Amino acid sequence: MEIKNETWGSRTGLILAMAGNAVGLGNFLRFPVQAIQNGGGTFIIPYLVCFVLLGIPLLFTEWSIGRFGGKSGNHSTPYILEAMGKGSWWKYIGVFGIFTNIAVVAYYTYIESWTLIYVFHTLFGTFSDLSQTAVSEYFLQYVNLTGSDFGIPLFPLWIYIIVLGINCYILSTGLGGIEKVAKIGMPLLILFGVILAVKGWSMGAENATELIPDANAWDGLNFLWTPQFSSLWDPKVWLAAAGQIFFTLSVGMGSIQCYASYLKANEDIALNSLTSGFTNEFVEIVLGSAIVIPIAAGFLGMDWVLNNAGFGMAFQTMPYLFQQWGAVFGTIAGVCWFGLLFFAGITSSLAMGTPWMGFMKDEFGWGKVKGALSFGLLALIMGAPTILFYQYGYFEEYDYWAGTVSLVIFAFLEMILFAWVFGINRGWEELNSGADIQVPAFFKWVMCYVTPVLLLFVLLGAMLTPEGNDWQEAFTGLWKGEGWKLDAHSLIAKISHEDLKHSLEAKEGTEDGN
Ligand code: PHE
Ligand code: NA
Repeated sequence: MEIKNETWGSRTGLILAMAGNAVGLGNFLRFPVQAIQNGGGTFIIPYLVCFVLLGIPLLFTEWSIGRFGGKSGNHSTPYILEAMGKGSWWKYIGVFGIFTNIAVVAYYTYIESWTLIYVFHTLFGTFSDLSQTAVSEYFLQYVNLTGSDFGIPLFPLWIYIIVLGINCYILSTGLGGIEKVAKIGMPLLILFGVILAVKGWSMGAENATELIPDANAWDGLNFLWTPQFSSLWDPKVWLAAAGQIFFTLSVGMGSIQCYASYLKANEDIALNSLTSGFTNEFVEIVLGSAIVIPIAAGFLGMDWVLNNAGFGMAFQTMPYLFQQWGAVFGTIAGVCWFGLLFFAGITSSLAMGTPWMGFMKDEFGWGKVKGALSFGLLALIMGAPTILFYQYGYFEEYDYWAGTVSLVIFAFLEMILFAWVFGINRGWEELNSGADIQVPAFFKWVMCYVTPVLLLFVLLGAMLTPEGNDWQEAFTGLWKGEGWKLDAHSLIAKISHEDLKHSLEAKEGTEDGN
């Protein structure tokens, strides 16, 4: 039974689904690590500037593009972009958007599957008597597929398939199902986050041990919240800040456009887009920064955090630290933490599934079940190699191309389309029609000039990343006439496979040494 013009059930449902789309693993796993690696307080100013000059304009643009497309029955970027642009090649840019969603969802659901299994491990007390090293080892064995969970070979792969299956099932129930998951998941996530954040804030120095007598949770908060202006001139920090804003707001992928295409023609987009964007920022800045870093700093000291900040901390360190609060609160904290991550993850992975389903339905009349199954299959085909070859660094490579570079390119093209091809005057009218608030005219100007130029800078910066990501050194070298040395991780080096040669050389080097 297909409903012809599917729309969101209620405004609350829409906001929660959109906020669920944005609030994800990025808020809790990516943000704290980015902040620490980029100097804490030095990261915050570029981050906030990018939110206002890149994030908000892109949210306005994507919501407008989506609702515009929905009016003519299009729910995915290929035909929406084609209808807005003047050449049919825009359609192919839109296709790129659908594939980015599938590429990202493939590894995103893998992380989501870790969070689910860690909820159960917490409940079963797997980590309760393990040392810090053993908990950390456990995770490494899991992701390298060298451990044995319950004696089942390739256990992580099966859990991944189950989680993918849960996603497909919910997707097959349509917008109603997505709305329901968001209505349950979002409030729980916020509740769990608040419990952990309050614990993090109130820790102080109570857990300092003889070994690390000066450990204090407040050091973590102070490190993040003491703004530093020195970084304003470092392109590296700006690139990291822009990358985080993209990922966390879910822009540059076509998933917001898809959700927005199910709005009613005259439903507000100006206020709704801001509400979901600010909800994401609240969860990221307030909750995302109040859990991993302060708790780790409270037990292990700030030096440890600075030396060990990484994506794995959430799985390698937190289960051990929670146990230090005793069996009962330790278990509660663990379930809150991994449960929160699971809800954050699933409401985002569902959002990445809808563009494909919308496209197959609009263009080929595929029903929900067929759409969801084919989506799951595609994600599995793309995701399996990342899982099986995790130890070869395939994973990071994937995140870089699908989760960072693609988003910036797509966003740049779509911004040009909206402001210059479709035309900012029509675009502005689209944004403001049915709006509950008056969008400040300042943004009209920002969307025309500032956002596209900044996006271009972000792209150039990624292409030309200098050796060691040390921009100051690179500019000094250039000034002295020594030329510009590209880093092996710069986009240009990657495209020309310089980085591959680099790692092969490094490998030969170590073999020679042996
Ligand atoms: N914004 C999500 C997060 O923070 C990730 C995401 C990106 C979700 C793109 C949907 C689309 O984790
Ligand atoms: Na987010």
